Amino acid sequence: MNRILSCTCAAGALLLSLAAIFEAQSSSHIEKRSWGTFDGKQVFLYTLRNASGTQVTITNYGGTITTIKTADRNKQFADIVLGFDSLDGYTSKTSTGYFGAIIGRYANRLAHGMFTLDGKQYQIPKNEGANTLHGGNRGFDKRVWDSRPTGSETPTLQLHYLSPDGEEGFPGNLNVTVEYSLDNKNNLRVDYTATTDKDTVLNLTNHSYFNLAGAGSGTILNHKLTLAADRFTPIDSTLIPTGAIDSVAGTPLDFRQATPIGARIGDSYEQLTLAKGYDHNFVINKNGQSLALAAKVEEPNSGRVLEVLTTQPGVQFYSGNFLNGKTQGIGGPFNYRSALALETQHFPDSPNHPNFPSTVLHPGQTFHETTVYRFSVE
Ligand code: GLA
Repeated sequence: MNRILSCTCAAGALLLSLAAIFEAQSSSHIEKRSWGTFDGKQVFLYTLRNASGTQVTITNYGGTITTIKTADRNKQFADIVLGFDSLDGYTSKTSTGYFGAIIGRYANRLAHGMFTLDGKQYQIPKNEGANTLHGGNRGFDKRVWDSRPTGSETPTLQLHYLSPDGEEGFPGNLNVTVEYSLDNKNNLRVDYTATTDKDTVLNLTNHSYFNLAGAGSGTILNHKLTLAADRFTPIDSTLIPTGAIDSVAGTPLDFRQATPIGARIGDSYEQLTLAKGYDHNFVINKNGQSLALAAKVEEPNSGRVLEVLTTQPGVQFYSGNFLNGKTQGIGGPFNYRSALALETQHFPDSPNHPNFPSTVLHPGQTFHETTVYRFSVE
């Protein structure tokens, strides 16, 4: 009798778990729709949806995340990134914020747009005063990527871009693949892979701007931030690293304990004055882990929490100091400090600082970095 009962129970449990798997599979999926054309190429908008209702939309223009909808502690969904509801928003000349895009070939800054590799000097177009920001005049954020959904259980979008030898002045044909996937535990995973046929330099990131209370709902100054970083790379007045690697201890850049972003942003501390707020590269404490927690953001009213894990050595924490309300997006104008970016990356201007981890990629090597954005509530 007992045996039959336990068999029935086991069979019942099996049926229940099969039903759960079916339910999860049927509710997590990826949808594709046309979103226009650019450069004679078709642009699509993909929606990745998981079993808990979290949704991420991505376009193959710039490999850009356009929306991320997550639940708050009352199960109310809101879009927590800055984005536009049409392709024009991204392609317009006035959209200069790299909203949600993949950044390359060299994310962040290169001093004077220059570097020397194998004894040869390379010049990249300067697009921020004397320096180059985010890959030159037309970086990876302004390119149409090949795209295809992959992965049956976890909705996954695979993007590919071939950056030709000499594009924006960078050497080598660079084959880049970026894979976005959204699992049922609310992990949005981004895998970056690249190979080259000549020595080159490479630094890839995603430039999403988060406001965990919902895009358009005020500033991020009440968001509590924790950064797993004992050190940062100080900058000069043009936001180029000086080459030093300094301790955050005793400075307003110490986020080792959760602290509201607004608590010290107005302090008269030179590094904050130079950047007009936070716009610094933090050196992530790895503690022997390859995929390590870099940052945690908590928004007290909604209860939303974002954790950022990465294999990369650094993270640029940018408090939206250049947002000025002139650009209008999905949640309204992109106002001053209405969103924050946590750009996982190699250190800015690494090719000109031999003491920073190398960003050189050689033929025969495969570049591989992963960043996970984990959404939850507290
Ligand atoms: C990065 C930079 C900032 C700013 C933004 C884009 O975060 O560090 O200074 O240029 O990109 O506006």
